[in-house]
Amino acid sequence: MKVLVIGSGGREHVLAWKAARDQSVDQVYAAPGSPGMTDVAECTGISEHDQDAIVSFAKQNRIDLTIIGPEAPLLAGLADRLLDEKLMVFGPTQKAALIEGSKSFAKSIMKQYNIPTGSYEVFSDYDKAADYVKQQGAPIVVKADGLAAGKGVTVAFTEQEAFDALHDILNDEKFGEAGAEVVLEEFLEGEELSLMAFVHGETVVPMVGAQDHKRAYDGDKGPNTGGMGAYSPVPQFGDEDISRAVREVLQPAASALVKEGRFFTGILYAGLMMTAAGPKVIEFNARFGDPEAQVVLPRLESDMSAAIIGLLQGGKPELSWSKDAVLGVVAASIGYPGSYEKGKPIKHIPEADLLFFAGVKKEGSELQTGGGRVLLLAEKAAQLNEAKEKVYDKLQQLDDTYLFYRKDIGDKAIFRASSDI
Ligand code: AMP
Ligand code: GLY
Repeated sequence: MKVLVIGSGGREHVLAWKAARDQSVDQVYAAPGSPGMTDVAECTGISEHDQDAIVSFAKQNRIDLTIIGPEAPLLAGLADRLLDEKLMVFGPTQKAALIEGSKSFAKSIMKQYNIPTGSYEVFSDYDKAADYVKQQGAPIVVKADGLAAGKGVTVAFTEQEAFDALHDILNDEKFGEAGAEVVLEEFLEGEELSLMAFVHGETVVPMVGAQDHKRAYDGDKGPNTGGMGAYSPVPQFGDEDISRAVREVLQPAASALVKEGRFFTGILYAGLMMTAAGPKVIEFNARFGDPEAQVVLPRLESDMSAAIIGLLQGGKPELSWSKDAVLGVVAASIGYPGSYEKGKPIKHIPEADLLFFAGVKKEGSELQTGGGRVLLLAEKAAQLNEAKEKVYDKLQQLDDTYLFYRKDIGDKAIFRASSDI
């Protein structure tokens, strides 16, 4: 079959990479794709926002399955449009994608259907929000309601930090419309787990867990980013923890969306805080996590595209997973998630089986930086610490004049394991 992947980031690179390896797939296209993924996909250059062009490309080229990577086209209704044209698409409709597009909507679903999450209130007025902060005290979490590329969240350890974040969002409109409302949320303590599932209505097929590293710098310091590295599995959590999270979070969320008339098809991603009282939802996403996809999909031994088609046709595919660990580290432009320069050469790129490009462009034959997160290098090994050693060994070759990466990806799991011995 022919698969079209929508998007141009690291997540889309691994999606195209996986589809290209699927037995059932003859040809992979990407829209737009990127100069970093031409080894696995034919990149069309069609913008992920150009719905007309995507539809005509899919029709003309008889695409059998379109997989939508990023959230923006989902929330703009690309899946609806492809469905209208009777094309096979894996990604939620605009209505269903609201589980990611509006944090206040996601919270109201969780409240209504008893899906565990932190307590919260929604505000659009600075003074009222500030009063709530004074009443609740710090720590407290401030979140812009809409999409903010993972950067709309402030975990405020003092009331002043919360006031500053509220001011940025509500008064200075730092996130534009996405910040017309804020969610003020209880601070949850525990370790994080990203759990994703292939979903079609009430059918939920969970993947293996992963852990992201959202902060820019080592030791979980610095601002929140889209994610600076990830690993899978997450040995801190056993099969029972994962089944509990599926039972208490993913399955009820999928069922709730069906009941609400927002039938969800695609990847449902639960960002969980594994608290002493069980898993609690930090956020839902309506697509694969980035960088989680880059460490989870390399462990998937089954044919992904065939599994998706099976799911869309009403089946419940069984997935088989490698027992090996995968650990991946993001190299980002210096300055990210703040401002950074683009168009800098990316030199001495190491050879690796799992090398996924994100913000890159090509000038002549030179690969250059074109975004915040530039690439992710991952390695697979029997143990996480071996995978980590291999990754950092290779990354030493990378010219880091314009790039930086965290040196401690996976340490929470690795130190835990070594202290257990
Ligand atoms: P989000 O974009 O909602 O995933 O939030 C970004 C990061 O902020 C999360 O990965 C957590 O590390 C942190 N965070 C978000 N909500 C909470 C919360 N209620 N309690 C503690 N930390 C949180
Ligand atoms: N890595 C977190 C996300 O994709 O939202």
